[in-house]
Amino acid sequence: MIRLLANAKINLYLEIIGNRPDGFHELVMVMQSVALADRITLKPLNVPAIRLICDHPQVPSDYTNLAYRAAGLLQKRFPNRTNRVGGVEITIDKKIPVGAGLAGGSANAAAALFGLNVLWQLGLTRIELQELGAELGSDVPFCLAGGAAIATGRGENIDSLPKAPPLCAVLAKYTSLSVSTPWAYKTYRQQFERTYLSLKNTASLEERQARIHSGEMVRAMATHSTATIGSHLHNDLEKVVLPAHPKVAQLKEIMTTVSAHTGGIGTMMSGSGPTVFTLCETVEQASQILHAVRSQVNDRDLQLHIAPFASQGIQIVDSGG
Ligand code: C5P
Repeated sequence: MIRLLANAKINLYLEIIGNRPDGFHELVMVMQSVALADRITLKPLNVPAIRLICDHPQVPSDYTNLAYRAAGLLQKRFPNRTNRVGGVEITIDKKIPVGAGLAGGSANAAAALFGLNVLWQLGLTRIELQELGAELGSDVPFCLAGGAAIATGRGENIDSLPKAPPLCAVLAKYTSLSVSTPWAYKTYRQQFERTYLSLKNTASLEERQARIHSGEMVRAMATHSTATIGSHLHNDLEKVVLPAHPKVAQLKEIMTTVSAHTGGIGTMMSGSGPTVFTLCETVEQASQILHAVRSQVNDRDLQLHIAPFASQGIQIVDSGG
């Protein structure tokens, strides 16, 4: 039996560059793991089946679940090994909000790949796991790499960054509100395609990527210049998600004001949302921000979490018995 923690991620920077031939979008992102984790348990079965247990009503337990598909992918790729060692029962104790822009599903898939590599003794390297992960979803390779990273391409090309400063995120999400990632990208394409770069112009694509690799945000992360990190937070998807969800736009405004009054660093939506996060320097500050937001948004549907930056995506907590 193996128990793992699968951390959520936030996007400190998300720029949509253009249309890819595979129908996805070419992105440049700066991603950061945060310590808000699902707990994943992998229990060997003596039949080559996959069973998934999760008590969250919005999480499917069939092959549409990314963690289930991760196990299926390994069984398909390594039939000799997995026919011999059997199957797995995956239990997901969900703490990361669902449909939130925090890569909860991708983190579960990453944990399944990481843990089953150990359980089934497949001997895959992290890079090989990331390549398999990219077949499941664009965020899975980052969830395997963890820490801080630049993600390019669909999001699957990962360049790890030096350890970020020990910041803390206050995450805010309306429980009943979820945003479909395909919808967010499709709507962005409809509204902003005219601003896209032609990806045939490799020079301008490289120039856009270089602007991030050598840009202010990455330098600020490396030099722990927290104020600069705050002032360079960016997410193109806000342009479609916030107008479609005025409640989230209003939440972002409130959090921005609270942040300014409590010494926070900056506020932004993560991924395709609708989670909004405020960064700050200490857990005490985060707690102050959380209480100030709670007192201004009188809505029990709003869930708030304090999540310090984490240097790992997936962590094995117990591989005994
Ligand atoms: O890769 P993933 O399954 O997480 O992507 C979900 C959806 O988000 C895709 O089906 C696509 O509609 C959109 N997407 C995109 N460009 C990306 C990543 C995701 O258009 N780079």
